[in-house]
Amino acid sequence: MTQTVLAAESGPRAKRRFDRVHQIINEYGASENALIPILQKVQDEYRYLPEEILTFVATALDLPPATVYGVATFYAQFSLEPKGKHLVKCCDGTACHVRKNQPIIAAIRKKLGLADGRKTTDDHRFTFEVVSCIGACALAPAVVIDGKVYGQMTPEAVIAALDEIDAADKAEAEE
Ligand code: FES
Repeated sequence: MTQTVLAAESGPRAKRRFDRVHQIINEYGASENALIPILQKVQDEYRYLPEEILTFVATALDLPPATVYGVATFYAQFSLEPKGKHLVKCCDGTACHVRKNQPIIAAIRKKLGLADGRKTTDDHRFTFEVVSCIGACALAPAVVIDGKVYGQMTPEAVIAALDEIDAADKAEAEE
Protein backbone atom coordinates (compact mmCIF):
# COMPACT_ATOMS: atom_id res chain seq x y z
CA MET A 1 0.00 0.00 0.00
CA THR A 2 2.76 2.40 0.96
CA GLN A 3 4.51 1.60 -2.32
CA THR A 4 1.35 2.41 -4.24
CA VAL A 5 1.13 5.76 -2.51
CA LEU A 6 4.77 6.56 -3.14
CA ALA A 7 4.37 5.60 -6.78
CA ALA A 8 1.74 8.33 -7.19
CA GLU A 9 4.51 10.88 -6.74
CA SER A 10 8.05 9.93 -7.60
CA GLY A 11 11.53 11.37 -7.50
CA PRO A 12 13.72 12.79 -4.73
CA ARG A 13 11.26 15.56 -3.86
CA ALA A 14 8.48 13.06 -3.19
CA LYS A 15 10.84 10.96 -1.09
CA ARG A 16 11.82 13.97 1.02
CA ARG A 17 8.15 14.78 1.46
CA PHE A 18 7.29 11.33 2.78
CA ASP A 19 10.51 11.22 4.84
CA ARG A 20 9.30 14.24 6.80
CA VAL A 21 5.88 12.66 7.40
CA HIS A 22 7.64 9.48 8.48
CA GLN A 23 9.68 11.50 11.00
CA ILE A 24 6.52 13.11 12.38
CA ILE A 25 4.85 9.71 12.78
CA ASN A 26 7.93 8.37 14.59
CA GLU A 27 7.91 11.41 16.86
CA TYR A 28 4.32 10.84 18.02
CA GLY A 29 4.14 7.07 17.68
CA ALA A 30 2.21 5.11 15.07
CA SER A 31 -0.98 4.68 17.04
CA GLU A 32 -4.54 5.82 16.51
CA ASN A 33 -4.31 7.98 19.66
CA ALA A 34 -1.61 10.05 17.97
CA LEU A 35 -3.67 10.69 14.83
CA ILE A 36 -4.79 14.24 15.70
CA PRO A 37 -1.35 15.49 16.86
CA ILE A 38 0.20 13.92 13.74
CA LEU A 39 -2.30 15.66 11.46
CA GLN A 40 -1.72 18.96 13.32
CA LYS A 41 2.02 18.69 12.84
CA VAL A 42 1.68 17.70 9.17
CA GLN A 43 -0.58 20.69 8.62
CA ASP A 44 1.93 22.98 10.37
CA GLU A 45 4.56 21.76 7.91
CA TYR A 46 2.55 21.86 4.69
CA ARG A 47 -0.14 24.43 5.65
CA TYR A 48 -2.76 21.84 4.62
CA LEU A 49 -3.30 18.09 4.53
CA PRO A 50 -2.42 16.79 1.06
CA GLU A 51 -4.53 13.80 0.02
CA GLU A 52 -1.58 11.49 -0.63
CA ILE A 53 -0.19 12.24 2.82
CA LEU A 54 -3.50 11.38 4.49
CA THR A 55 -3.34 8.03 2.72
CA PHE A 56 0.26 7.59 3.80
CA VAL A 57 -0.65 8.35 7.44
CA ALA A 58 -3.56 5.88 7.28
CA THR A 59 -1.21 3.15 6.02
CA ALA A 60 1.46 3.92 8.61
CA LEU A 61 -1.06 3.88 11.48
CA ASP A 62 -2.80 0.80 10.08
CA LEU A 63 -6.11 2.65 9.93
CA PRO A 64 -8.74 2.66 7.19
CA PRO A 65 -8.21 5.78 5.01
CA ALA A 66 -11.86 6.68 5.69
CA THR A 67 -11.05 7.06 9.41
CA VAL A 68 -8.21 9.49 8.71
CA TYR A 69 -10.30 11.44 6.17
CA GLY A 70 -13.18 11.49 8.67
CA VAL A 71 -10.99 13.15 11.32
CA ALA A 72 -9.42 15.54 8.79
CA THR A 73 -12.81 16.72 7.56
CA PHE A 74 -14.54 16.78 10.97
CA TYR A 75 -12.30 19.34 12.66
CA ALA A 76 -12.44 22.90 11.35
CA GLN A 77 -8.73 23.37 12.17
CA PHE A 78 -7.79 21.00 9.34
CA SER A 79 -7.76 22.00 5.71
CA LEU A 80 -7.63 19.67 2.72
CA GLU A 81 -6.78 22.56 0.43
CA PRO A 82 -3.52 24.52 0.31
CA LYS A 83 -3.62 27.64 2.46
CA GLY A 84 -1.95 30.92 1.75
CA LYS A 85 1.17 32.27 3.43
CA HIS A 86 -1.00 34.57 5.58
CA LEU A 87 -4.14 33.35 7.31
CA VAL A 88 -6.84 35.96 7.92
CA LYS A 89 -9.87 35.03 10.00
CA CYS A 90 -12.88 37.20 10.70
CA CYS A 91 -15.06 36.21 13.63
CA ASP A 92 -18.75 35.78 12.92
CA GLY A 93 -19.82 34.91 16.44
CA THR A 94 -22.80 36.70 17.96
CA ALA A 95 -20.91 39.62 19.55
CA CYS A 96 -18.91 40.32 16.39
CA HIS A 97 -21.97 39.94 14.19
CA VAL A 98 -23.97 42.39 16.32
CA ARG A 99 -21.08 44.86 16.24
CA LYS A 100 -21.15 44.96 12.47
CA ASN A 101 -18.55 42.51 11.19
CA GLN A 102 -20.26 42.20 7.80
CA PRO A 103 -18.69 45.35 6.26
CA ILE A 104 -15.32 44.07 7.55
CA ILE A 105 -15.83 40.69 5.84
CA ALA A 106 -16.85 42.46 2.63
CA ALA A 107 -13.80 44.76 2.79
CA ILE A 108 -11.40 41.84 3.27
CA ARG A 109 -12.95 39.87 0.41
CA LYS A 110 -12.77 42.90 -1.87
CA LYS A 111 -9.18 43.73 -0.90
CA LEU A 112 -8.03 40.13 -1.48
CA GLY A 113 -10.11 39.64 -4.64
CA LEU A 114 -12.07 36.81 -3.05
CA ALA A 115 -15.52 38.26 -3.64
CA ASP A 116 -16.61 35.06 -5.39
CA GLY A 117 -16.37 33.07 -2.17
CA ARG A 118 -12.96 31.50 -2.81
CA LYS A 119 -10.82 31.24 0.31
CA THR A 120 -7.30 31.55 -1.06
CA THR A 121 -5.82 34.13 -3.41
CA ASP A 122 -4.40 32.92 -6.73
CA ASP A 123 -0.87 33.80 -5.63
CA HIS A 124 -1.34 31.75 -2.44
CA ARG A 125 -0.36 34.70 -0.27
CA PHE A 126 -3.63 34.97 1.66
CA THR A 127 -6.33 32.64 2.90
CA PHE A 128 -9.46 34.18 4.36
CA GLU A 129 -11.91 32.37 6.60
CA VAL A 130 -15.05 33.40 8.45
CA VAL A 131 -15.02 31.58 11.77
CA SER A 132 -17.17 31.21 14.86
CA CYS A 133 -16.38 32.92 18.19
CA ILE A 134 -12.65 33.11 18.84
CA GLY A 135 -13.11 33.97 22.53
CA ALA A 136 -12.27 37.66 22.22
CA CYS A 137 -15.87 38.98 22.43
CA ALA A 138 -14.83 42.01 24.51
CA LEU A 139 -12.81 43.12 21.48
CA ALA A 140 -15.65 42.61 18.97
CA PRO A 141 -15.60 42.89 16.08
CA ALA A 142 -12.43 40.84 15.96
CA VAL A 143 -10.10 39.69 13.19
CA VAL A 144 -7.13 37.33 13.53
CA ILE A 145 -4.21 37.73 11.13
CA ASP A 146 -1.43 35.15 11.35
CA GLY A 147 -2.44 34.34 14.92
CA LYS A 148 -2.55 37.96 16.13
CA VAL A 149 -5.94 39.25 17.34
CA TYR A 150 -7.02 42.66 16.10
CA GLY A 151 -9.93 44.09 18.15
CA GLN A 152 -12.58 46.74 17.49
CA MET A 153 -11.92 46.41 13.81
CA THR A 154 -13.34 48.59 11.10
CA PRO A 155 -13.10 48.03 7.34
CA GLU A 156 -10.47 50.79 7.16
CA ALA A 157 -8.40 49.33 10.01
CA VAL A 158 -8.38 45.82 8.56
CA ILE A 159 -7.32 47.14 5.14
CA ALA A 160 -4.51 49.07 6.85
CA ALA A 161 -3.37 45.87 8.61
CA LEU A 162 -3.37 43.97 5.30
CA ASP A 163 -1.44 46.82 3.64
CA GLU A 164 1.18 46.56 6.39
CA ILE A 165 1.60 42.85 5.67
CA ASP A 166 1.95 43.62 1.97
CA ALA A 167 4.61 46.23 2.69
CA ALA A 168 6.51 43.86 5.01
CA ASP A 169 6.41 41.09 2.36
CA LYS A 170 7.71 43.49 -0.31
CA ALA A 171 10.52 44.70 1.96
CA GLU A 172 11.44 41.07 2.72
CA ALA A 173 11.49 40.21 -1.01
CA GLU A 174 13.82 43.13 -1.73
CA GLU A 175 16.34 42.18 0.97
S1 FES B 1 -18.15 36.59 18.97
FE1 FES B 1 -16.34 37.29 18.01
S2 FES B 1 -14.85 36.91 19.48
FE2 FES B 1 -16.63 36.10 20.39
